[in-house]
Amino acid sequence: MKKYTEIDDLNNIPQIIDEAIQLKQDPFQFLELGKHKTLVMLFFNSSLRTRLSTEKAAKNLGMDVIVLNVTDAWNLEFEDEVVMNLNTSEHIIEAAQVISQYADVIGVRVFSTLKDKQRDTSELVLKSFVKYASVPVVNMESAMGHPLQALTDAITIEELKTKSKPKVVISWAPHPKALPHAVANSFIQMMQELDVDLTITHPKGYELDTKITKDTCVVYDQKEALKDADFVYVKNWSGYTDYGKVISKDSNWMLTKEKLGTAKFMHCLPVRRNVVVEDTVLDSKSSIVIEQANNRTFAAQVVLKHILENLES
Ligand code: CP
Repeated sequence: MKKYTEIDDLNNIPQIIDEAIQLKQDPFQFLELGKHKTLVMLFFNSSLRTRLSTEKAAKNLGMDVIVLNVTDAWNLEFEDEVVMNLNTSEHIIEAAQVISQYADVIGVRVFSTLKDKQRDTSELVLKSFVKYASVPVVNMESAMGHPLQALTDAITIEELKTKSKPKVVISWAPHPKALPHAVANSFIQMMQELDVDLTITHPKGYELDTKITKDTCVVYDQKEALKDADFVYVKNWSGYTDYGKVISKDSNWMLTKEKLGTAKFMHCLPVRRNVVVEDTVLDSKSSIVIEQANNRTFAAQVVLKHILENLES
């Protein structure tokens, strides 16, 4: 694997999922692979799971890890041919080349602005790192995608499914703040690659990018969408057409134990209790959010393993 910035970078998803499950059984079997190799992780935004699980994954492979909160470094410029006489001090052209001298792999977390749709959909920051870095780049959640989370979710469904083609529903949830589209986008893209029966449900006005949803079934009636579900993935996102806007805070869309029925509850975390989902769901055996978070390590580990193997070949 030359990079992992989008789901399309995975060649054979079922095989990658199986390999991640094998790594989980014996995480230290490739300790030599990452010896004298360094992962530099750059965080433009907050993180708990991605930061810790990706570091753990890299160390399971014998890598060294350097973490930089980018807000502690110079303010970076990403536009071409700009006169840098305002707030930016260093251009990505130099910064990416410099970081590449310290890193064998670069991880980047950079959320959407939710203000500038063109900048966000173009993935300006992530793609600038890919363009100017001389080492592989891993997307640790970008403006429009969170492929490490999606791989985690696929691993978790594979481990816990009780039928060959489970029904998977992604259900929008209310939230007081405008949130990005990245998790929903990548989850949908990943599920489209797997043998699952996928339904998307959200209030009218919350339609995602049709280049992502394609012909996936969208049902506006949440109760109807959740019928016979095996896995219910709950996630808030802000408007895509009415970009970055909170169109509804309708608490009727919060997931309850009654709505969940016999399905498993999934969420990428962090989650706001009793806003997105009731306590009684999160605290029940139906919730698999902690298993999901555990699988973040093995999703990152299988990705780093393939990148390291490609460096050696
Ligand atoms: N799910 C996830 O990416 O968690 P963090 O934002 O804490 O990294």
